[in-house]
Formats: sequence, structure tokens, C-alpha cells
Amino acid sequence: MSSVVDLRIATISTRPKSIPTQMDHLLQCHPPSRSYRAAAQTKDWSAAQYLKFEEQRTRPARDLLSQVPLSSPKRIIDLGCGPGNSTAIVLNRYPSAHVTGMDSSADMIKTAKAALPQVDFALGDLSSYTPGEPVDLLFSNAVFQWIAHADRIPIMKHLIGSLQPGGVFAFQVPDNYLEPSHKSMRAVAQEGPWAETLAPLKPGLGPFHTPQELYDELKPLCSSVDIWHTYYNHSLPGHEEIVEWVKGTGLRPFVDPLAADQKEGFLKAYLESIRKVYPSSVDGNVLLRYPRLFLVAVRA
Ligand SMILES: C[S@@+](CC[C@H](N)C(=O)[O-])C[C@H]1O[C@@H](n2cnc3c(N)ncnc32)[C@H](O)[C@@H]1O
Repeated sequence: MSSVVDLRIATISTRPKSIPTQMDHLLQCHPPSRSYRAAAQTKDWSAAQYLKFEEQRTRPARDLLSQVPLSSPKRIIDLGCGPGNSTAIVLNRYPSAHVTGMDSSADMIKTAKAALPQVDFALGDLSSYTPGEPVDLLFSNAVFQWIAHADRIPIMKHLIGSLQPGGVFAFQVPDNYLEPSHKSMRAVAQEGPWAETLAPLKPGLGPFHTPQELYDELKPLCSSVDIWHTYYNHSLPGHEEIVEWVKGTGLRPFVDPLAADQKEGFLKAYLESIRKVYPSSVDGNVLLRYPRLFLVAVRA
């Protein structure tokens, strides 16, 4: 395995900084300094919990990658690579590229390294991250929803600034703020004995940026910005599986701050609430509707 690059301290060094161009101004090439609030409230990710739904979680990564208009990118970074599932599909499409992965979770990076020992994976935080050299493809599946709303656009602009002209920034995020699964989390958080603990933490993710906001912010830097939604309808064996699904992701900021007994109570109340808002299907399964937002931008 080749040596692991510490992506946290890498810097762009290819463009002279003395004469700012209009693009420099647009790119605001200073990494945002604010740290991610919700991450600070949660424990580390569990790769094992996340991978319980590996197939369903990886499908949008495939759908995103299928729309990347590059035939032979040389340098690719999987931002928020998680356990390496998204990295594997990128490698599969571009076997000759130099692919690296970065993520802020130690457990995810450890799992990714074990899964793909030939790839360089490194710990890093997107809020202070700059690729070490210009990149052809920045790929990010299901990560940007975890970045605080105010930080997202500055981070995206900064990352686009690290692309080669013609390079691609491609991301996908769940867009499920108004889905029953997520409305239920917020409702349950306000109801039980855990309400006092959770209220000041304001757990949970807010709505993502709208397509119009994303387009208007990123288009001045890009020759094209393609945005679309896909609504997946995952057929899961029961309501418990919906709870298991979100335990690996969106429920973490709600239950991680709770003591064991409160966590148990929260999960029970959440399951009851999920039973009420998702009907059982003809085969006894439950359909988990899952809207996702995709964006593929080509740097001007
Ligand atoms: C839902 S998982 C996605 C994993 C993988 N990309 C996939 O396609 O399934 C989100 C990942 O984003 C990472 N993450 C969240 N905030 C991050 C940040 N600020 N910087 C880097 N990684 C971050 C988490 O550690 C987690 O592994």
C-alpha cells in the first residue's frame, strides 16, 4: 500500500496568488473556519451500523457517478468516503485513476482501509480541507447534509477552486427533512423525558439548500450545473428496519447525547411513531420513501 497522505494539511500550490482573478474572488479560496455543530454532539460513526443497508445506500452513488461527464480523470477524491463503498464504485469506473478517500470518522477510515487496501484513505474534515494538488473529480455521496448550512456553500466553492478547469464536482445528499421518518424524530425529541437534554442541542439536520440556491451560488464558477432529484422507495422488511436505517445516520444526533435508558425510551417511542406514519404493504414490508438531491457541476 502506498503512503497515506495527510489530507488535512495539504494545500493548493499550483496557482500564483499575487494577482487575484475574478475566479479567485468568486471562489473565496479560504477554507471556512466554523466547525460542524452536529458532529461535535455525536459519537463517532459506526461503519457496521451504516453498512447494514449497504446496497440501498450505495445505489445513489452509482446513479450519481453515471452522470459524471469524464472519460479518463487522472486524480479523484471521494469526499466523506465512509466505509469505502462509494470509493469502490468510483475505482470500478475509473480503474486507471489515482483515487483517494477522506473522511472525518476514524471508524469509517479504518473500515475503508481494510476494504480497499490499495487506496490511500486519510482522516480529514471538509470544513478545513484542501486537496493537495488540482483534482479532476471531487465525488461526494451522502456527506454534505452533515455540514452546517452556513458553511456548505463556502466549502463547495473552495472545493471547486481545487479542480482543474473542466474538472467535476459531484455530490448527492438525502433531501428528507419533510419525510415522515425525519418529522417523527423531531416530534419525539420534544415529547419524552429526553426533551430537556435535547432541546438546547437542537439535534437533527435542517433542510438542505434548494436547487435554485445551489445553482445561483455555483453557476458563476462553472460551465454547467446539473441538478436533479430521485425518489427511491425502499421496501424494508418492517418498521424496525426504518429505525435501524436511520440509527446509522439521521437519528445519531438525537440518541448519541442520551444516557442508555433514555436512548432506549427514545427508540421505543420513535418506533411507535414510525408504525403510525408508514403503512404496511401487501407483503408485510414497509416502503421507506427516500428523496435524494444530486448535483454535477463542471468547473469553468
Ligand atoms: C452517510 S456517510 C456516506 C459514506 C459514503 N460516502 C457512502 O456513499 O455511503 C457520511 C460520511 O460523511 C462523513 N462526514 C461527515 N461530516 C464530515 C466532514 N465534515 N468531513 C469529512 N467527512 C465527514 C462521515 O464520517 C460519514 O462517513
